[in-house]
Order: sequence, then structure tokens, then C-alpha cells
Amino acid sequence: MRIYLSSPHMSGIEQKYLEEAFAANFVSPFGPQLDKFEDMVREYLGGELYCVALNSATSALHLALRIAGVVTSDEVWVSSMTFAGGVFPINYLGASPRFFDLDPNSWTIDVSLLTEELEYAARENRLPKVIIPTDLYGQSVDLNPIENIAESYGVKVIVDSAESLGAYYNKTRKAGTGGDASIISFNANKIITTSGGGMLVTRHKDWAEQARFLATQARDPEPHYEHSTFGYNYRLSNICAAIGIGQMHVLDQRVIRRREIFDNYVKFLDQPGVSFMPEPLGRYSTRWLTTLTINPSVTGVSSNDIRKKLLGYKIETRPLWKPMHMQPLYSGAMYHGNFFDEGLFKNGMCLPSGSAMTEKEQNEVIEIFLDCVIG
Ligand SMILES: Cc1ncc(COP(=O)(O)O)c(C=O)c1O
Repeated sequence: MRIYLSSPHMSGIEQKYLEEAFAANFVSPFGPQLDKFEDMVREYLGGELYCVALNSATSALHLALRIAGVVTSDEVWVSSMTFAGGVFPINYLGASPRFFDLDPNSWTIDVSLLTEELEYAARENRLPKVIIPTDLYGQSVDLNPIENIAESYGVKVIVDSAESLGAYYNKTRKAGTGGDASIISFNANKIITTSGGGMLVTRHKDWAEQARFLATQARDPEPHYEHSTFGYNYRLSNICAAIGIGQMHVLDQRVIRRREIFDNYVKFLDQPGVSFMPEPLGRYSTRWLTTLTINPSVTGVSSNDIRKKLLGYKIETRPLWKPMHMQPLYSGAMYHGNFFDEGLFKNGMCLPSGSAMTEKEQNEVIEIFLDCVIG
């Protein structure tokens, strides 16, 4: 590949924090850089929150679900259109996922569908233990109504904000502050990265304490190794956290750049038959990836044709997430919706959106794309 979908974008500041970590020999899963990174994310998000840095967002979700008390007999409700890491932890605990479609106005979980199903489930005494609404492609879910309705049924909410650090909901509320807990990803392809990493953010002090305990092999407070439950090796390395500190310094700049890239695509590619992911009033998406759909009966080409053409120039694009209810693994799972997500998968694609992408590179993508749709 010459132009990637979303590659790491170092600022240069990371090096200084890495050197500090090396100099003090904190080449370990604990250390001052790890503490500082957690503090920076907490301060960025604001409010009474606790942050636990982990080796991935998938680990963060696993811990959050376990701490929420999810067991094999439970259902967990989740947006169908998402990445596997936002769902697999349900399987780790032996619980069953139930999948939900998106709202066409936001491409995030359909709240009216969720409300309706909660009503039925309450009547039939089969409420889920947890709901995982997913902030898709950098856009926050409709947080307030989801939190309110879930609370009224005593259902916990864990928001998958893996893709949305830097986004806002309702103008002022930051993505990553929602629900009982939120998870954030610092995977290499995200807005900012620690090469691989994640964060559990929660408003419950005891959830954070349990997460730290479980993430470090559930060691009881004894001088020898004593275990009254099983844990995991999920903590983020202090070295990775040092990278994260440098990246936090430039987070807002990175979001601004991704949004600029999105706006530039819209400026040139807003052609008949091409529709971009909407951004509802009051929401501020990170535009982690520029996503759009193609109507082949208007453009004369499919999203797949465009993807293949760009690939010929070594330019990486990708279809949108394949909804989980369409995956062979989940062929027997329950799904609620009108198949809006299936349409997105069929006709949608993500364009190169990394903040390090140059203007020249983006122009090349635009030119080849336009060549496909208008010839
Ligand atoms: C929506 C969503 N959830 C979960 C994850 C898992 O994050 P990680 O790779 O840090 O485990 C990702 C991305 O990688 C994601 O995009």
C-alpha cells in the first residue's frame, strides 16, 4: 500500500516521554508514564471519572462486562454494525449477544428500537444485563436517552467509544464519558495510538478498582501470590503509555485534521449517488474514517468497483463493518431492525482518512474516485 486507511501519526513529542521511561528503567506494566497517561485522559474527559489503562479496548470491554456481573445465562444487547472486538468479549463470558440496527439519521444504535425491545423484554422477564451502544466511525451514540431508558429498567450501559475519543455529544459532553463505563481504543489505526492499547473509563470507583485488580492477575493483598478469583494480564505497558502521553498533547489537532479531510472529500465527491455519513445537530464526530455509500444505479459503479480501482493504485479503502448478525459465528443470534446496517455494508466504504495523509495524497484518492463515478 502507498496510501493507508489510517496509520499512526506521531508528533515527535512521544520520544521525550519514551526516553524518560527508559532512563528510569520503567520498561514495565507500571510506572509514572502509565499514571500520567491515565491522568491526562481523565482530565481531558473531565468530570468525576476513573481511568484504567489496558492493553486493548477489547480487554477493557471484557473487564467491564465481567465487573457488570455478566454470566452465561445473560443477554447483552449491542449494535450489530461494529468491529468484532466490540462484541467478542460477550462470548468470553459465555453470554448471548442480541443485535440492533442503526438509526439512518446518525448511523448509531436506533434508540426507539431499543426502547421498544426493552419494554417487551421487561414484560417477558428477559431483560439484558448490559447494553453496549457503539460510537460508530467516531460519532457518539444518542447518549442521554440510552442512559435514561437503561436506568429505568436497571440495565447497565457500557459505551463502546473505541473510535470516538475527541468527539462530543450534545455539544459539550465528551465521548468516553457515557454509561456505567466506556471503552476507548489506542490501536494503531485510531485517532491517537499507543501502538496497541485501551482504556476503561468509569464513573464507579469500585469498577475502576476491580478493573485494576482483574487486569493484573487478581492478586490478593499478600506477599506471596494468593488468588481467590481468576484474573487477566491486561495492563498497558508503561512504554506504550509514554507514547500515549505525547499523543494526548495533539489529540484535538488530530480530530480537527480528520474533520478537514472529511470536509474535503465532501467538497469534491458529493456527487449524485454518493452519500456521506450524517452528523446530527449537536454532535461533533471525530470523523475517524470518512464513510460513505454509493448508489450503483445512479453512479453506474459499485463501492466494490471503486475499492478495487483504488487498490490498483495501492490505495487502501475498506467496506463498512459487516454487521455481526450477518457473520457465520452469529448466524443463530437475535437481530432487531430494518436491515439499514445491511444496506450500509452492501454499498458503503471507508476512504483513507489518516491525519498524516498529505493534501497531494488525498487529491489522488479524490481524482481516482471521481474517475470511477463520473468518468
Ligand atoms: C468499535 C470498536 N470496538 C472495539 C474495538 C477494539 O479495540 P482494540 O483493537 O483496542 O481491542 C475497535 C477497534 O479496534 C472498534 O473499532
